[in-house]
Amino acid sequence: MYALEAKGIKKSFGGVKALVNGELLCPQGKVCGLLGANGSGKTTLSRIITGFHSMDEGVLKIYGQSISFKTPADSQKAGIAMIHQNLSLIPELKVWENITLGREPRGNGGFLATEDAKAVAKEHLARLYPELDIHKKVYELAPWEKQIIEIAKALAQKPKLLILDEPTAALENSQVERLFKLLFDLKSQGVSMIFISHRMTEVMELCDFLVILRNGETVGTVDFSTDGKDEKKIVSLITGTELQKSQKQRRDISDNEIFLEVQGMTVGRKIMDVSFKVRKGEIIGFGGLQGHGQEELLLALAGYFPLSNGRILLQGKSKRFKHPVDAIHQGIMLVPGDRHKEGLFLTHSILANFNYPKFSLKKTKWLVPFQQLQAETSQSVQALSIKTHDLDTEVKNLSGGNQQKVVLGKWLALKPQVLLLSDPAKGVDVGAKKELYDVVLKLADEGTLVILYASDSEELISYCDRVLIMYEGRIVEEFRDGDIMEERIIASSIRVKI
Ligand SMILES: Nc1ncnc2c1ncn2[C@@H]1O[C@H](COP(=O)(O)OP(=O)(O)OP(=O)(O)O)[C@@H](O)[C@H]1O
Ligand SMILES: [Mg+2]
Repeated sequence: MYALEAKGIKKSFGGVKALVNGELLCPQGKVCGLLGANGSGKTTLSRIITGFHSMDEGVLKIYGQSISFKTPADSQKAGIAMIHQNLSLIPELKVWENITLGREPRGNGGFLATEDAKAVAKEHLARLYPELDIHKKVYELAPWEKQIIEIAKALAQKPKLLILDEPTAALENSQVERLFKLLFDLKSQGVSMIFISHRMTEVMELCDFLVILRNGETVGTVDFSTDGKDEKKIVSLITGTELQKSQKQRRDISDNEIFLEVQGMTVGRKIMDVSFKVRKGEIIGFGGLQGHGQEELLLALAGYFPLSNGRILLQGKSKRFKHPVDAIHQGIMLVPGDRHKEGLFLTHSILANFNYPKFSLKKTKWLVPFQQLQAETSQSVQALSIKTHDLDTEVKNLSGGNQQKVVLGKWLALKPQVLLLSDPAKGVDVGAKKELYDVVLKLADEGTLVILYASDSEELISYCDRVLIMYEGRIVEEFRDGDIMEERIIASSIRVKI
């Protein structure tokens, strides 16, 4: 018995063909990995299954019954829940209100049973993040905390079919572990799942089989029990070509000038007496468990937080940033982790988003010929292989990974002296991730100093010259070159000696 059958699904948005032939069969109690490059149609297919979009053509069956959901509420009634890539939370509401939204327990006389609702919220956060204060408003939280609430909200529906659209993109190892334990339990209870992720190790661990989309079309299925787990084959199905593994180039930067120096930086209780020096062209990574000060460190360097103590020196001169703009004027640019909150004007075009920083910083003369602007932007769009049919497309209509590339692209175009990257490849597909980091490596070769925080330690390992591990706001260990290894980074993050 199939929990879900989707056949010949087609969907266009205006002239954009998001799905041309989506097909996915998921047996009950199995986990289907839905893979594909950015913009290949994964989110669109999921949103059709859950009634957020209507399909143009095709057949959908749930437990053998043909269905066509008109609204998300219809799919909820049929036992389907979805963890959304762009999160479906209401920032002004509290954590518990968000988790129970639309399914609030009612008491006598139909009044909201507040205490019951809070208990439901607590129950569903218990295994993922029991420490979270459910009375906090969602806008106060970090991206990874929001992601956990989004997960709890879907679980609170007690679904029979759960669709997870990149639930781990904003999470780090220990949280992913907690989530996976929970998902394995759900699976053993017979819950079927569709799991979307660009992280291959997770897909290999959790899924029973894979369905691969390319350009809106299902191009293959890989059943682990009969076909094995051939990563090369999977990647070539995703990309349509053989992907060369990114080779870390050993660049000698030991003679380069020390451009940035941080001395005894302390920020509230988040960063404690942190010191380090970075040379031009160097790529240093900050590792460790999420929430141990890495993101605050980037924000402080970018002028978002005042230092309680310590100094930031550029080329030996002490600098004070009262405001992020002060840092930008010194050539320090931050690519933020939360693209919706800090990075993009969603209802504006790609062209506009790319060029706002240039204009607002008056990096460019007032009247730039429009054609030149278009040509430059289109070059960047190609360099990062942003999937769009024109530059006038509103950014909100791009797929998640392609939005992230716009955030990165607009800052890269300014050729910063110091580039601060906060989880830049979050939700970016395997092929595009390599292209994105190739652009970063090229900037580093030209002398840009890069400071990277990545929730996926593989990115630190592949691209950094040095990795500093943070624990409770302090730098506790440093790894270089050949010592930058997964086991060492993880052990150091949890303060275990190996
Ligand atoms: N509302 C919309 N209007 C116009 N185009 C859209 C809309 N939603 C999606 N698209 C387009 O449909 C295509 C498929 O997008 P989708 O979001 O399904 O990709 P995805 O596989 O989820 O990618 P990612 O891995 O980046 O999340 C993309 O080209 C996207 O730009
Ligand atoms: Mg998507």
